[in-house]
Amino acid sequence: MDFNIKELIENAVDSRKRAYAPYSKFKVGACLLTAENEFYGGFNIECAAYSVSNCAERTAIFRAVYDRNSIFKAIAVVGGDEKQTNNFSDFCPPCGVCRQMLREFCNPEMFKVILAKSTDDFKVFTLDELLPISFGPNNLK
Ligand code: THU
Repeated sequence: MDFNIKELIENAVDSRKRAYAPYSKFKVGACLLTAENEFYGGFNIECAAYSVSNCAERTAIFRAVYDRNSIFKAIAVVGGDEKQTNNFSDFCPPCGVCRQMLREFCNPEMFKVILAKSTDDFKVFTLDELLPISFGPNNLK
């Protein structure tokens, strides 16, 4: 891997501190790594009209794309009840919508999804493992 996984996880944990999750009280943090090795943090942002809420992963994606970074190499995700701070009891896998949005901006066989409970306890998947036989930009060419 040509990047520092622990650093990516630390940034996801740091981003999570600012999550706005007053309804679920489940805070998620993500850190996206772009092709230019830039980090984009994201956290979940909920809404009183629940379905409008946005996941941490998509917050990070939208921030990066706004800055004209639209090729991604990896993402680290951490999540758990708001009382947890940096040692999470469970892994927090990206929802289906976020997997599909990641698919838009990466090579699914190369892109790494890092699910972490801490900087020392994590699992690495490719996006293709989490979203096999996916529909992507090439299907519209
Ligand atoms: N959530 C994320 O931010 N990312 C995920 O991968 C799964 C779920 C958020 C959405 C909602 O604010 C809260 O977690 C509970 O579902």
